[in-house]
Amino acid sequence: MSLNIIILAAGNGKRMHSSLPKVMHKVGGKTMLEHVLLTAQKLNPKTVNVVVNSKIEFIKKSFLNYDLNWHNQLEQKGTADAVKTVLPHLNKEEDVLILYADTPLLDFKLLEKFINYMPKADAKVLTVELDDPFGYGRIIREQAEEEIISKIVEETEADETQKDINECNTGIIFSKVEVLQGLISEVKNNNSKKEFYLTDVVSIANNKGLTVAPLLAVDERNSLLGVNDKCQLENTEQIFQKNNRQKFLTQGVTMLDAGSIYFRGDVEIGSDVEIDGNVIFEGVVKLGNNVKIRANTIIKNSVISNATEIKPYSIVEDSIIGNNCSIGPFARIRPNCTLEENVGIGNFVEVKASSIKKNTKANHLTYLGDSEIGENVNVGAGVITCNYDGVEKHKTIIKDNVFVGSDSQLIAPIIVEEGVTIAAGSTITDNSDKDSLLIARSRQQEKKNWKR
Ligand code: UD1
Ligand code: CA
Repeated sequence: MSLNIIILAAGNGKRMHSSLPKVMHKVGGKTMLEHVLLTAQKLNPKTVNVVVNSKIEFIKKSFLNYDLNWHNQLEQKGTADAVKTVLPHLNKEEDVLILYADTPLLDFKLLEKFINYMPKADAKVLTVELDDPFGYGRIIREQAEEEIISKIVEETEADETQKDINECNTGIIFSKVEVLQGLISEVKNNNSKKEFYLTDVVSIANNKGLTVAPLLAVDERNSLLGVNDKCQLENTEQIFQKNNRQKFLTQGVTMLDAGSIYFRGDVEIGSDVEIDGNVIFEGVVKLGNNVKIRANTIIKNSVISNATEIKPYSIVEDSIIGNNCSIGPFARIRPNCTLEENVGIGNFVEVKASSIKKNTKANHLTYLGDSEIGENVNVGAGVITCNYDGVEKHKTIIKDNVFVGSDSQLIAPIIVEEGVTIAAGSTITDNSDKDSLLIARSRQQEKKNWKR
């Protein structure tokens, strides 16, 4: 039977106190909605339907690569109303799974288990026991051990005894489209929030003699936590980070202070990698084998290849670093750099939109921007590629085996030919022949016995 998934993401998210839609807040560097979409995709559904609010155009822009049906819930009248905007577009004979976009840690294996659980039930609800159930709908079972729930009571409607129940509604519901449609059409908004609660379908089903089966998730408790406010967002972030640390430690990554290493995106790590404290990975990051990431570094959308060391206090962004390189300490590799093997970028060196071939070194206090640098080049201390004339950026090309003396400026556009030696303190403005020595500085004068 074909599976349709509905993801509810239209809520106002008032408790977040933010102009950003709640589901666009990030956990582990990805929006909560994206987390849920990625999990949904793993179930191979026939359709994925996302219900959003008037910020639909803004939200859609972030998901152009997904095959989704978008629905605009014009007024946020509750979760039942949100589901109602989608159901008429689905095939009545097929199955529907409801997910909430504010539950970002969802585990697809649990969802698979849930979908296959008690196939004879008319509807199923995924439940979880929480130490602090505040804010969640409580599950009322006729008799504790019975595999049938009679209703779900929302926090705002619950009496004191019901509030003591720890079994909570995760929001995840499964049934046939036709069954859910019949139940939802009877949901009323006669409650304290004047909202149409999806959870009311459970008591309506019972009144009709239909069975609603609960699956209580025990081991996956953390994956079912909902995010309604910034405290829960922070808590969810911590769980996400803990899970990632655990995953990489189990895989054999050495972390000297795992609690201070953060994974905000999709990170892939090779074997025998060592990561010191206070390190942040952002976006898509790939670390090869035997890589060392020293303390206080940030690596964003980059590849760090085998046996390369990123020394303390360095930042690498949108770049590819080859094998056996040494970066830092205090280095900044800005976007669009490609470094071949055995390149050395030392302290207080900034590199931007540059390609650097193998065995080249720039070890101290240097700016290399919009440049192409060959093999075996030595860039002395304090060298600057002057790439910007105030209007446009220009290119510096330094060919193989060039020696750039310390404190030199290369005024771009410029080509420094192969084997050229630039004397320290030179301001290079013109191209030259290969293997030349270029000295471009004023000659020292000496006035003897000078009186100040
Ligand atoms: C909801 C459930 C509660 C459950 C909890 C689990 C209801 C009435 N309550 O409560 O039983 O324990 O989730 O986390 O369903 N949304 C819309 N349109 C609306 C209202 C909400 O699309 O008009 C979306 C929200 O964006 C969110 C989801 O539905 O993704 C849940 O809404 P929320 O307001 O967070 O419900 P809770 O109070 O958490
Ligand atoms: Ca919620």
